[in-house]
Amino acid sequence: MILPSTSLFDWCQWLQNTPLATMINESIWLFPLIEGSHILALPISVGMIVMFDLRLLGLTTGSKVTNEFLRWSRFGFAVMLITGVFLFITQAGKAYGNPFFRTKLLLLLVLGINAAVYQWIFYPKMSQWDLAGKTPAGARFCAGLSLIVWIGVIVCGRTMAYEF
Ligand code: HEM
Repeated sequence: MILPSTSLFDWCQWLQNTPLATMINESIWLFPLIEGSHILALPISVGMIVMFDLRLLGLTTGSKVTNEFLRWSRFGFAVMLITGVFLFITQAGKAYGNPFFRTKLLLLLVLGINAAVYQWIFYPKMSQWDLAGKTPAGARFCAGLSLIVWIGVIVCGRTMAYEF
């Protein structure tokens, strides 16, 4: 069910005024800690994904080490997601109408679909094409799309932080 925009906005305003949001906003160390973790997790999540995408595009050498990148990227992504939700709680009312915040969420959705397509279609047979250097065109497309859209997420994240 799609909520009417006013009630979603009311919910965001309510969220921003909950005791948890107030506590984070009023603490001198909690907000910087969460925001700092959000930014520090960026190279662990997106940085590792970029290395993997470059490998699929044939721009770095293939090796088992790059497979390890994905494990780290999952950890980094979990930190970004959790800290991102906490950041959102503290400024939900402002974030609600912000076009960069909305675009960022939309781009994250695109990345989720892109990752799922890669995971279901190309990943199961990766051992057959990867080290032979015969990356399927579809997998290269997923990698290129991922690179471009991640840049969009970071640009939107930074730009919306300017506006808050
Ligand atoms: C997982 C991928 C994500 C990436 C790569 C990302 C990236 C960024 C970046 C680069 C910033 C700018 C930080 C600064 O310079 O101050 C930012 C800020 C922010 N992000 Fe994310 N983010 C992600 C996920 C999320 C999620 C899932 C949410 C919420 C649902 C979120 C909410 C926020 C908020 C509210 C800010 C603004 C913080 C402030 O007031 O300075 N982020 N993000």
